[in-house]
Amino acid sequence: MTIIVTGGAGFIGSNFIFHILEKYPDYRVICYDKLTYAGNLANLNGVISNPNFSFVKGDICDQKAVLGLFEAEKPDVVINFAAESHVDRSIENSRIFIETNVLGTQVLLEASLRCGVKRFHQISTDEVYGDLPLDSKSSFKEDSVLKPSSPYSASKASADLLTLSYFRTHGLNVTVSRSSNNYGAYQFPEKLIPLMIVNALRDKPMTVYGKGENLRDWLFVDDHCKAVDLIIHNGRAGEVYNVGGRCEKRNIDVVKMICRELGKPESLITYVEDRKGHDMRYSVDISKIQAELGWVPETEFANGMKKTVSWYLKNRKWWDI
Ligand SMILES: NC(=O)c1ccc[n+]([C@@H]2O[C@H](COP(=O)([O-])OP(=O)(O)OC[C@H]3O[C@@H](n4cnc5c(N)ncnc54)[C@H](O)[C@@H]3O)[C@@H](O)[C@H]2O)c1
Repeated sequence: MTIIVTGGAGFIGSNFIFHILEKYPDYRVICYDKLTYAGNLANLNGVISNPNFSFVKGDICDQKAVLGLFEAEKPDVVINFAAESHVDRSIENSRIFIETNVLGTQVLLEASLRCGVKRFHQISTDEVYGDLPLDSKSSFKEDSVLKPSSPYSASKASADLLTLSYFRTHGLNVTVSRSSNNYGAYQFPEKLIPLMIVNALRDKPMTVYGKGENLRDWLFVDDHCKAVDLIIHNGRAGEVYNVGGRCEKRNIDVVKMICRELGKPESLITYVEDRKGHDMRYSVDISKIQAELGWVPETEFANGMKKTVSWYLKNRKWWDI
């Protein structure tokens, strides 16, 4: 089996490549990545000498390059992790989010169609559903209305719909997964958990939006990789699968936990003006993937956080640049 993984030099994509090459020693994996600020070839040091792995630098928006790659490699499966992924950046300037997340996905879908790709999998986010009130007990299902709040989540929702349209219109074998917030090794320190770890280690202010009451559902990255593995092999064509950690935490509690793990004082925590349009609570119902594919998140938050903090402690050279 030959798999093209776009965005594989980023956080989740690199963890996914490790997972696949370890579990399926006879699979070929080609990572196609533009190496933006969020992509880092060093993330792939562990697999670079594996003869079944290759890296190609390129932009998913570059139609000619993408088609050339697909024609040369004839992938069975394409998994699109490549994206601009940070909400704050999309609030500052949304253009690149539309280019990469929407147009880039269109380029990949078109090339997949032309080259007879057997499965195109789009990595999406729970943020496409919008948010829920803090006091609500409900969770979004795969057929819930899409109501994204930020330019980032709006671009991801557009890409989901485009992907699903290629199934209905062209019969392309597609699947979409909508995951909650991931944490783990190799996450660029701009997202909550790695940013707080890095700031604490530098004894810098640990800045928290608003009162830090926003609820997020946390999923250890290895569990996400296992879910995507199951979906590409056994997921039904044209279907969306929610992937969540069943682990809702207030941002402030996560930040305090990081202080405790690192033995740093909570006086480092500094409250700043809230993010514009800040979503309050995310929650996805994962009963579909559990029932159909037998997937449930395995890693307890305390355990996953210990592993994550320990990775940032051991890999200071990776983030201290
Ligand atoms: N991190 C999370 O908590 C989370 C949660 C749900 C869904 N997602 C989704 O998962 C995917 C991966 O997220 P991540 O956190 O690993 O992101 P990331 O920002 O760490 O990595 C993105 C990767 O995509 C590459 N890339 C960006 N633009 C590109 C382009 N035009 N062409 C080729 N490569 C390009 C970057 O170089 C980088 O390697 C994204 O689609 C994101 O929307 C992430």
